[in-house]
Amino acid sequence: MPPAAFSTIPTLETQRLTLRAFSLEDIPVYRREFEKESVQRYLGGVLILKDDTKDAQNWLRNINDRLLKQKLVFTWLITQRSNVSESVGRIDIGGFTNKKVAEVSYYIWEKYWGNGFAAEALKRVVDFGFNDLKLERIQAVLDVRNTASEKVLVKAGFEKEGLLRKYPLGKGVSDVFMFATVR
Ligand SMILES: CC(C)(COP(=O)(O)OP(=O)(O)OC[C@H]1O[C@@H](n2cnc3c(N)ncnc32)[C@H](O)[C@@H]1OP(=O)(O)O)[C@@H](O)C(=O)NCCC(=O)NCCS
Repeated sequence: MPPAAFSTIPTLETQRLTLRAFSLEDIPVYRREFEKESVQRYLGGVLILKDDTKDAQNWLRNINDRLLKQKLVFTWLITQRSNVSESVGRIDIGGFTNKKVAEVSYYIWEKYWGNGFAAEALKRVVDFGFNDLKLERIQAVLDVRNTASEKVLVKAGFEKEGLLRKYPLGKGVSDVFMFATVR
């Protein structure tokens, strides 16, 4: 992975979307949408921000600076190009192993489901992973019940590699499918 890639969160564009770094103004809507049961259902429990500016600032420092400089993860807010101040979701690529393998995760706010936003954002992040980070493999792990996410992965060119039972997911364990796409 070229080290220079980790200097900042790059803004990525697709036909309809702009993927950009989070800012403090994005946090209230992000908190409200991300913590909804509909979004959390198959995640096994992931970090939800407290309603606290300090907590939010700390998280922003982590995702926009510390974790990036440590080459651990890129986290983007997904917005529509027509209105980059309003979020429709979030996407991450991280968990880099041997500088060659990484894992993606993505979340679309419920009111925007079914527009193909997840697949469109994911394809762009995969392109970033292969072309800018020079990865060999990009994988995703999802709860076997998460059929919407499975469709997203297939649309973005991932293949199902198998079932992993009682695999770590969020704060717990779940039966999951491993999906991947390779260079
Ligand atoms: C999974 C998720 C990202 C999909 O986002 P999206 O922008 O609606 O995805 P897309 O529009 O690209 O396509 C999803 C597909 O699932 C279908 N779908 C949408 N909601 C569904 C649901 N509740 N149950 C089953 N299928 C569903 C859509 O019709 C679409 O299928 P199609 O391509 O045959 O039309 C979104 O549902 C979400 O954020 N879920 C909660 C977080 C999550 O589970 N993230 C994935 C972690 S691995």
